[in-house]
Amino acid sequence: MKVAIVTGATRGIGRQTAIDLAENGYNVVINYTHSDDAALEVKAICDKYNEALIVKADVSKMEEASMLVDKTLEKYGRIDLLINNAGITKDNLILRMTGADFESVINVNLVGTFNMCKTVSKVLFKQRSGSIINIASVVGETGNLGQANYAASKGGVIALTKTLAKELGLRGIRVNAIAPGYIDTDMTKVLSDDVKNGILNNIPLKRFGSPKDVSNLAVFLASDNASYITGQIINVCGGMVI
Ligand SMILES: NC(=O)c1ccc[n+]([C@@H]2O[C@H](COP(=O)([O-])OP(=O)(O)OC[C@H]3O[C@@H](n4cnc5c(N)ncnc54)[C@H](O)[C@@H]3O)[C@@H](O)[C@H]2O)c1
Repeated sequence: MKVAIVTGATRGIGRQTAIDLAENGYNVVINYTHSDDAALEVKAICDKYNEALIVKADVSKMEEASMLVDKTLEKYGRIDLLINNAGITKDNLILRMTGADFESVINVNLVGTFNMCKTVSKVLFKQRSGSIINIASVVGETGNLGQANYAASKGGVIALTKTLAKELGLRGIRVNAIAPGYIDTDMTKVLSDDVKNGILNNIPLKRFGSPKDVSNLAVFLASDNASYITGQIINVCGGMVI
């Protein structure tokens, strides 16, 4: 049975992706940082299909990322899929953005993705199989007002994805990124109605995305149907960026 690690899997896109992967035959490792209850709730849903595991770990710290991988191997003995979904925002215009807010967003979104990719790559390399999907963002391609830290982190994730696809391809390991536009989750709920309406005006499909819109692509990219796709950044944004 295939094994998938999903980081930041207790809510939003990560939660939906974990559930969809379980439904599609994966044993899922549900990573989280805060709520034990939320993690147990996702586990209970995944357990209906296969046996899931919850592991509390802050992926921005290399030793915790390694522990997450060790616990996965202890339980299942292999890893077939890594979804780097954990992410945070700390928005502000550059003149008001503190160095600490820049650093913490880079640390979770980019360094966390690096930590997980590095640790899991070792396992996939030995297995000569597996795939990595990084959740980036369209703002990593376009930039965005008030998101210097976040856009830089996601731009870094995009470059990391392309580089790892080149480094790991010779072992048959695929590395892709999904770049969502505006997805309706706790992360975006904090935006004002004015900002939301402004965004909506620029979306040709005239609706915000749902976590399912993103998880559907993650399940496809992880599957053998995507076996000739690597190093790609695929936007899920209702046409917001064309
Ligand atoms: N919602 C959107 O519109 C949107 C758009 C583009 C990209 N994304 C990206 O999609 C991913 C999921 O976002 P979401 O909207 O579901 O947000 P969310 O805030 O609902 O979920 C993010 C999850 O990551 C977890 N997390 C945060 N820091 C962590 C850490 N150090 N270690 C482990 N887990 C950690 C959080 O606890 C949370 O469960 C993020 O990478 C985000 O940047 C979201």
